[in-house]
Amino acid sequence: MTTTTATGTPDLTAYRCVHRALRVGASSLAEGATALPGADEARRRAYARYWRGYAGEVLAHHTIEDDFFFPALVERVAVAGDLITRTDADHHHLDDLMDAIGAAVDHVRRGDPAPELAVLTRELAEHMEEHLDFEDRDVLPLFERHFDAEEYEAVDAAAMKSLGIGRQAAFTVPFVVSTMTPEQVAKVLGGAPMPMRVLYRLTRGSHARLTERAFGRPLVGVA
Ligand SMILES: [Fe+2]
Ligand SMILES: [Fe+2]
Repeated sequence: MTTTTATGTPDLTAYRCVHRALRVGASSLAEGATALPGADEARRRAYARYWRGYAGEVLAHHTIEDDFFFPALVERVAVAGDLITRTDADHHHLDDLMDAIGAAVDHVRRGDPAPELAVLTRELAEHMEEHLDFEDRDVLPLFERHFDAEEYEAVDAAAMKSLGIGRQAAFTVPFVVSTMTPEQVAKVLGGAPMPMRVLYRLTRGSHARLTERAFGRPLVGVA
């Protein structure tokens, strides 16, 4: 999802909104984990479903960064290679952390104790903040500095095509939009392809219910 400005500078609003959603999701999962011991089955299952959607979105986001956005950046700005060495290491560390969390969430979903879940999700939230601070501060501005809108849109379009609009998008689209301001929603969703807008209309209600069941409140961290 991309929007452009009249100057031809790429608009990374959608990219930054995804980052914001990843921060909000991780902190919600960390906070929610502390309420899971003793929670009823509906809440535990909802938490597990939210986790699967969140983990799938992190994986998808890292994949398009590793396969599309970052290689395009390094090709254009050779010195960015050093920055991408760090994002590679961060992505691997987050993958390992998420594997451990996935195993703990499976225990919780079955009703078994998983005292490590609260610690692991807190670690995820902290590391995700550091990782996204780094990308937002040091990596994303390079696209704005070294690409024009058309060039950036070509990279974004290739990345979006590789993701498609499937099962993961049914979580990701309402998840990301739920953490956006009304202005961001109008800008990003207004410029999105029709299937994306239809998907949002079809999934926003069920996503809000899932969030409420998983965390005991309707929406998390709306900007
Ligand atoms: Fe990112
Ligand atoms: Fe990343």
